[in-house]
Amino acid sequence: MQLTSRADRTATVSPVNVRPRSDRTVLVTGGAGYIGSHTAVALLEQGFEVIIVDDLSNSSARAVEVVGHLTGRNVTFIEGDLTDSTVVASVFASHPIDAVIHFAGLKAVGESVEQPLRYYRTNLLSTMNLLEAMQSNGVFDLVFSSSATVYGDPDTVPIPESAPLRTTNPYGATKLMIEDICRDVAASDPRWNISLLRYFNPVGAHPSGQLGEDPNGIPNNLVPFVMQVAVGRRDEVAVFGDDYDTPDGTGVRDYIHVVDLALGHIAALDRRGGRCEAYNLGTGNGSSVLEIIAAASAASGVEIPYRLADRRPGDIATSLADPTRANTELGWRADRALDVMLTDAWRWQSGNPNGFASDTAS
Ligand code: NAD
Ligand code: UD1
Repeated sequence: MQLTSRADRTATVSPVNVRPRSDRTVLVTGGAGYIGSHTAVALLEQGFEVIIVDDLSNSSARAVEVVGHLTGRNVTFIEGDLTDSTVVASVFASHPIDAVIHFAGLKAVGESVEQPLRYYRTNLLSTMNLLEAMQSNGVFDLVFSSSATVYGDPDTVPIPESAPLRTTNPYGATKLMIEDICRDVAASDPRWNISLLRYFNPVGAHPSGQLGEDPNGIPNNLVPFVMQVAVGRRDEVAVFGDDYDTPDGTGVRDYIHVVDLALGHIAALDRRGGRCEAYNLGTGNGSSVLEIIAAASAASGVEIPYRLADRRPGDIATSLADPTRANTELGWRADRALDVMLTDAWRWQSGNPNGFASDTAS
């Protein structure tokens, strides 16, 4: 099977990508992480070749092994730090890359407030190195992990992509800056084809129970915390505020199954026609904190203790996607229901109570 040479790709401005998936190699940065590993599985299952680059700063090489095991496919794994431009250049020099899905980065809001320089350096420099290497190697298809955090505290919900963009913390600022960089880069050259995917709240795990979210330390996010209570690693859930303007007073979010999210990336890879477009990836349905705790109890069969606590600084009452643009332009829809999200999360958590360390510790 002949791959298009780099020189050919540089010269081609093709409105339609007619090449079969088995001919297309996707560089997945951060592919050992939570969303990246699930996306790597989906890509391999659909016939793409996959190269993962990850520095394992927030993940385990075991996740990459599981990706290979689940799909029965070879995955090229390069352990490397994308803030080092020589690493990025060597990845492009030694592999025939057709498109990039860029997950790698730091993602904890509270930590970003304490260590802003580390967040700006890691997230911005990684992306700059990647964009420069793509441009000089004639690779113009990029899918970037943005976040609903770019909407800040929205004026209205559900939130359309046209809503005002604003952020309240350094993590969110890096997402917005990277979106701006992508818009400028795409405006400079019509060959760019960039999808900015604004994720709402990814949860759940691969249905095999072998791949899932494995946060370091105390989880910041609700579902991993609830699951660790259910499995007995933590005593109770603190419900951050019950006086919001929501039906039961607790925060409402748009939870999306990580497998649906992964499939959204493949839909974006197939997209043609616009240089740089943003898409909300969410379900459009909201669940409160108390509804999540109840659904997690039902999924696990474990009574999950909780206590009402103060609001978490910076939290908003309701975040809900308007996913119409992704539904119509990408032909993608998130259809896994909340009980499936929590059943899959529980299968992963109960089978691997200590995450990826579970099967290597004994
Ligand atoms: P994750 O931490 O599990 O995955 C990120 C991966 O990037 C990790 O494996 C980490 O080791 C790697 N990495 C970090 N810095 C790197 C560097 N300098 N070089 C190479 N690799 C590096 O996070 P995730 O939940 O899978 O999130 C993936 C992306 O999606 C992130 O950009 C995140 O900001 C974004 N996002 C996540 C959520 C969420 O709730 N999980 C929501 C919105 C957006
Ligand atoms: C968090 C991030 C946000 C990111 C999003 C998706 C913060 C401040 N914001 O938002 O930038 O885009 O995740 O990954 O971290 N809750 C509890 N108890 C807990 C944990 C959470 O009650 O122990 C509540 C929260 O107040 C919120 C809901 O559960 O109402 C969901 O919280 P979380 O999973 O952290 O997601 P977000 O707040 O949406």
